[in-house]
Amino acid sequence: MKIVAGNSNRPLAEAIAAYLNTPLTKCVVRRFADMEIFVEIQENVRGTDVFVIQSTSFPANDHLMELLILIDALRRASAKRVTAVVPYFGYARQDRKPGPRTPISAKLVANLITRAGADRVLTLDLHAGQIQGFFDIPTDNLFAAPVMVRDIRESFALDNLTVVSPDVGGVVRARGLAKRIGASLAIVDKRRDLPGESEVMNVIGDVAGKHCILVDDIIDSGGTICNAAQALLEKGATEVTSYVTHGVLSGGAVARIAASRLKQLVITDSILATEAVRVAENIRVLSIAPLIGEAILRTAQEKSVSSLFFD
Ligand code: R5P
Repeated sequence: MKIVAGNSNRPLAEAIAAYLNTPLTKCVVRRFADMEIFVEIQENVRGTDVFVIQSTSFPANDHLMELLILIDALRRASAKRVTAVVPYFGYARQDRKPGPRTPISAKLVANLITRAGADRVLTLDLHAGQIQGFFDIPTDNLFAAPVMVRDIRESFALDNLTVVSPDVGGVVRARGLAKRIGASLAIVDKRRDLPGESEVMNVIGDVAGKHCILVDDIIDSGGTICNAAQALLEKGATEVTSYVTHGVLSGGAVARIAASRLKQLVITDSILATEAVRVAENIRVLSIAPLIGEAILRTAQEKSVSSLFFD
């Protein structure tokens, strides 16, 4: 087995390599003067089972291109099998046509990864489950829920928790987490009844006197989570903690979270934390390296990966 890392999240790749007790394969990813990406795998990979670790996070296009070029290099170097390990799959929010003459970019990215030469894909908490079907190669979609559940059990008394989805689209995810920890479920329903009217946050379910756990797959600007936290506190929740798999945290998101009434935001290291995230007092990062490392090991040994979903 060989583990190759792109530049998007070196610390995560190193942690996965440490879990697997396998050093990262020597490889150089560098730029020509015009910013073209050049890759050189500096070890023999002929006949090996290679796992390329690369989140297609900010800057998404550069990291995607790096991934494609790494896969191409490995293919041409006669690797036996190439698995694209993409902890954060960028472009996932473009999974349908929101209007006429718009793309389905998640499908395009799936095509690119496949055509570059990947044999398999391993990813985590895809924004929408159907993206798995955008790939015509085996694709394992891991869930961060077991990692979150472990942390919730260690951090809070479970008897007064309510799990909350910040929007109707996330209900299945929130319900799954609520079931695992035996908590009740609530939903924030964002509505704009008439065009031009401001959005109203309706809370479905009883949150008064509860510690709410807001759960989502992505936090980008922070608007969804901060507004939902505010609505829950207005409905009488005692405190709000949020668990989100992918901390995209663009622009002023970290400052927005710091200024919010959120007790804590817990994210995973699927995306490399910026300095602002690292020093933020109310943001904590959980590592998914053991989860991904174990999934890689099981893939290499042709063992079941789905059993990891239920830990
Ligand atoms: C949307 O469907 C996603 O699950 C997230 O709720 C969304 O991407 C969060 O974005 P933001 O943090 O910018 O509100």
